[in-house]
Amino acid sequence: MGMLDGKVAIVTGSGHGIGRGHAMELAKHGAKVVVNDLGGSVTGEGAGRAADETVQLIVDKGGEASANYGNVADHDQCGELVQQAIDTYGKLDIVVNNAGIVRDAAIWNMPVDDFDAVMAVHVRGTWSLSHFAAKYFREQAKAGAGIAGRIINTTSGAGLGGNFGQSNYATAKAAIAGLTLTLAQELAASGVTVNCIGPAGLTRITATMPGAGEAFEPDAVAEGEFHPMDPKNSSPLVAWLASDQAGYVNGQIIRCLYDQIILMKGWSEKVVIESGNKPWDATKLGARMASEVFGVAPTGLKFPKA
Ligand SMILES: NC(=O)c1ccc[n+]([C@@H]2O[C@H](COP(=O)([O-])OP(=O)(O)OC[C@H]3O[C@@H](n4cnc5c(N)ncnc54)[C@H](O)[C@@H]3O)[C@@H](O)[C@H]2O)c1
Repeated sequence: MGMLDGKVAIVTGSGHGIGRGHAMELAKHGAKVVVNDLGGSVTGEGAGRAADETVQLIVDKGGEASANYGNVADHDQCGELVQQAIDTYGKLDIVVNNAGIVRDAAIWNMPVDDFDAVMAVHVRGTWSLSHFAAKYFREQAKAGAGIAGRIINTTSGAGLGGNFGQSNYATAKAAIAGLTLTLAQELAASGVTVNCIGPAGLTRITATMPGAGEAFEPDAVAEGEFHPMDPKNSSPLVAWLASDQAGYVNGQIIRCLYDQIILMKGWSEKVVIESGNKPWDATKLGARMASEVFGVAPTGLKFPKA
């Protein structure tokens, strides 16, 4: 018996790369999967039928899947995606928000359209699909349907620690971490968990970065073989988070890099100083900030000429 038998999943952006790995892994464990993919370029232009390839790979291995060619940046199409899962398979249990694009440039060279496009796919796409899934999960919870809803989002190192040339992508991925924490609180009472993974893999996205290496699809690495940058390295983690076993895990950010699974610790207080119930005085802050907060000599930083 598969650990996801009887479950129905949507995986966005699963026509290629990491998402394809997730869709195949969920299907391998018994889930019926709606493979969503717009099928455009790595920068989000155009459209195509990449979803069909993943569906075929799943069907070839005896799994069940159907394609959806919608754009997650389109709010209504996210509603249609949820409806497709319900119409095709009778319900929805698992949503994996994975679709993504990149449009890298240093902020002074980045057109505002490239900021908006990246935010639309990653942030609004994750929000919109979660919005429709949340409505459905809440209705099901009220009706006592016993669905253990799962939303699994996707962040990245850029969102958690910044990355030069990715002010749009890093902002989007940090927003997805924040969204995860909020949805985890909002949906807990409906029996839904909301977590976020930070994957890695040599995909079309990393191939845009100088020296990163050539992209390959997850099915290029045979089952049982290990490659440190196999796009499907994080997929078993996704399958487990989607399963009933992981019902106690909520609001977590978990990276999966190479052969490691890393539970992240969020923003936490590092140093606290107190004014003693008096207003702070900016002219006197320097000494205390240097010695008590940063532990440096109060000399100030010298900035290079622009
Ligand atoms: N590759 C890495 O090392 C890495 C690291 C951290 C996070 N990620 C994240 O993993 C996710 C998957 O990326 P990947 O590396 O597999 O890249 P990829 O380009 O191989 O896959 C992304 C998929 O999303 C699809 N997509 C893009 N815009 C879409 C839209 N509007 N609607 C529906 N589908 C859309 C693309 O067609 C593509 O198939 C992304 O969210 C990415 O930011 C990747």
